[in-house]
Amino acid sequence: MQLNYSDLRAGARRRLPRFVFDYLDGAAEDERCLRRNAAALERLQLQPTCLRDTTQVDTSIEVFGARWAAPFGVAPIGLCGLVRPGGDLLLARAAATAGLPYMLSTASNSRLEAVREVAGAAPQWLQLYVMGERSVAEQMVRRARRAGFGALVLTVDVAVSGMRERDVRNGFALPFRPGPALLLDMLRHPRWALSMLRHGAPNFVNLTEDGTAGNAASQAAMLARTMDRGLTWESLAWLRSLWDGPLLLKGVLHADDGRRALQRGVDGLIVSNHGGRQLDAVPATISALPAMLDAVAGRIPVFVDSGFRRGSDIVKALALGARGVFVGRPVVFGMAAQGQAGASAALDLLAAELQRTLILLGAPRIAAIERDHLVRADADG
Ligand SMILES: Cc1cc2nc3c(=O)[nH]c(=O)nc-3n(C[C@H](O)[C@H](O)[C@H](O)COP(=O)(O)O)c2cc1C
Repeated sequence: MQLNYSDLRAGARRRLPRFVFDYLDGAAEDERCLRRNAAALERLQLQPTCLRDTTQVDTSIEVFGARWAAPFGVAPIGLCGLVRPGGDLLLARAAATAGLPYMLSTASNSRLEAVREVAGAAPQWLQLYVMGERSVAEQMVRRARRAGFGALVLTVDVAVSGMRERDVRNGFALPFRPGPALLLDMLRHPRWALSMLRHGAPNFVNLTEDGTAGNAASQAAMLARTMDRGLTWESLAWLRSLWDGPLLLKGVLHADDGRRALQRGVDGLIVSNHGGRQLDAVPATISALPAMLDAVAGRIPVFVDSGFRRGSDIVKALALGARGVFVGRPVVFGMAAQGQAGASAALDLLAAELQRTLILLGAPRIAAIERDHLVRADADG
């Protein structure tokens, strides 16, 4: 039975070889940030108001002119094709079915045009990594515009890859040359191994215009997450010249960067620590959120991700003033265990919890969630 995050995680653990599970579950260095994200959310508590009419509950919101069924969406996850063949498509379909937004990663393994096709009217955003060869990003952005992606999200917290010690220990180094331990790991998970044999190893098919693995240098750069470290605030003008839709930055933690983004005409921010996978020493995102919200003073929407596991976690971020939340691992764990149905189950769980939380809080609409609904637990934990 899948009732919560632990159940989703356990399902993925059963299905996947250890190195794939650890790739999803793991974080940087001592994984303190991963735990900090959860602990900081736990320290916040919700304070209900009573005797409010909650006969009708509306969890929907509008973002950049598009309707979301609830104030959360699916965060970009690279290498989904290693979890299941067509993993990006499975996640995109699940999100669209739930009326929720889906953010496709640059490190995806399905063509962005095909991903866009499965979404129908549901919103999709494209997450962008910029590697040394700028033409790689340029062709992706052009294609995203043609395909009708609703926003472009530049990830700014991967100037270099975080040190994911589990990956190193497992020998999941890239380029991928499995040694005996890794081969044994794969053989112990025959259903996963067979599906990979049948469909072939995943490629980063969005790095070239024609979808061929083509440019070996950019494939290798993507695998090693070798980004363009010369990318600066000035580079945003270059992106603007390619993209006239909403442009967001993902991975912003410093309030001064929020102010800079505002000055540069950025349309939205995602406060993120990459699910604890980059700099282990950074604050929990729920702790960084209030200063960011103050910095932009309501002029652009601020979203948040990293460690959101319950509908009530999402409500806590909204009570602080976030426009919405993105979730990564819960959905990808669901997809790992049961494909599209598993991803849908994870999204439905969160949506149902969110709805129940709103009723219990006495807030029948998202706009009715207020700062006063939140209290900080100091003494009683
Ligand atoms: C396996 C994995 C792969 C990821 N790949 C990307 C990526 O390609 N681009 C990106 O911007 N963020 C990536 N992220 C970060 C997520 O988008 C998101 O910030 C994070 O997972 C949210 O935390 P959560 O998983 O605790 O919900 C990845 C996260 C995981 C777990």
